[in-house]
Amino acid sequence: VICRKFSHSASLNAIKTVTVVGGGLMGSGIAQATQAGQNVTIVDLNSEILEKAQKSIQNNLGRVARKLYKDDPLKMEEFVKEANSRIKVSTKIEDGVDADLIVEAIVELLEPKQKLFNRLDELAPEHTILASNTSSISINEIGSGIKRKDRFGGLHFFNPVPVMRLLEVIKSDRMSQETYNAMMEWGKSVGKTCITCKDTPGFVVNRLLGPYSAEAFRMFERGDASKEDIDIAMKLGAGYPMGPLELADYTGLDTNKFVLEVLYQKTKNQVFKPIPLLNKMVEEGKLGIKTGEGIYKYK
Ligand code: CAA
Ligand code: NAD
Repeated sequence: VICRKFSHSASLNAIKTVTVVGGGLMGSGIAQATQAGQNVTIVDLNSEILEKAQKSIQNNLGRVARKLYKDDPLKMEEFVKEANSRIKVSTKIEDGVDADLIVEAIVELLEPKQKLFNRLDELAPEHTILASNTSSISINEIGSGIKRKDRFGGLHFFNPVPVMRLLEVIKSDRMSQETYNAMMEWGKSVGKTCITCKDTPGFVVNRLLGPYSAEAFRMFERGDASKEDIDIAMKLGAGYPMGPLELADYTGLDTNKFVLEVLYQKTKNQVFKPIPLLNKMVEEGKLGIKTGEGIYKYK
């Protein structure tokens, strides 16, 4: 019993190094939220994205520093420098595999995620826990090809990660109690309130946000109201911090489309059926804030 207890707490304390694969919107946010006390490596295929991630983390750390050390520019600078020193970047997956926890935040498509997890399973040390930040795809399907099914699950963050306080911890079928505990503890250690989710389509938040978001697109497509008025309505009439179309641009229209596709495929609920306007915009590369144009223009 003592040994079990010891190995359990040893593994909880063991998450000291984290790798985030995918350095886009979510990956850079997860890395920023994690660096408070932990060493983080961000891996992305694209070196320009890594540069962008580093710049955005530096800016956001600056915001935090200004709040913490209002009257002390020297301390502000020290804080940002120290936090930055705990973040490394690389375009090679091999540079990131030696970690206690690897969080995947790449494109919301099943095949690339499966391929990546199979590779991570091969390369990472025995003790490494693997997690996906997927918005909607089945965790069990993502991990179907890996051997370490007991050390695998979902860690679903929300955008912007440093600000949104929720973390959905998604249990995979064969996840061990130890891995579940480690994920919950780690979530708390990076400042999040964790909820437990089953591996259901869209988990909790996106299963509820999906119909809302889809209907907002359809409303705009039908011309029931202008985009601005739809957004004003939900901010001032329902108390949301952003309107649904603004939020879609903020999330990325590609991610919105992929999430709705998964929800439709898995639930067959007509509310999630394809939206021609959304599909057309994604085809045209109008993905929202990240490309400078979506429902609104940002240039
Ligand atoms: N890093 C650190 N701090 C940040 C930050 C970042 N990236 N972005 C914002 N902040 C901080 C600001 O410094 C500010 O802090 P103080 O209040 O202490 O000064 C605070 O957050 C608010 O920021 P702003 O004043 O710049 O802007 P705002 O008041 O308009 O809030 C917002 C911005 C937090 C994004 C707010 O509009 C909001 O909550 N929007 C809704 C976001 C949402 O619903 N996210 C979930 C999307 S669904 C999802 O993520 C799941 C999925 O799978 C798709
Ligand atoms: P994004 O497009 O901003 O970033 C994805 C990054 O992954 C890109 O930089 C791309 O170069 C990189 N990439 C793709 N394949 C890779 C690979 N094999 N190895 C390394 N890097 C690779 O997307 P995002 O918005 O950050 O979303 C990432 C994941 O997080 C998706 O699964 C998405 O559903 C989920 N998510 C998104 C949000 C959101 O609001 N955008 C919220 C929660 C969860």
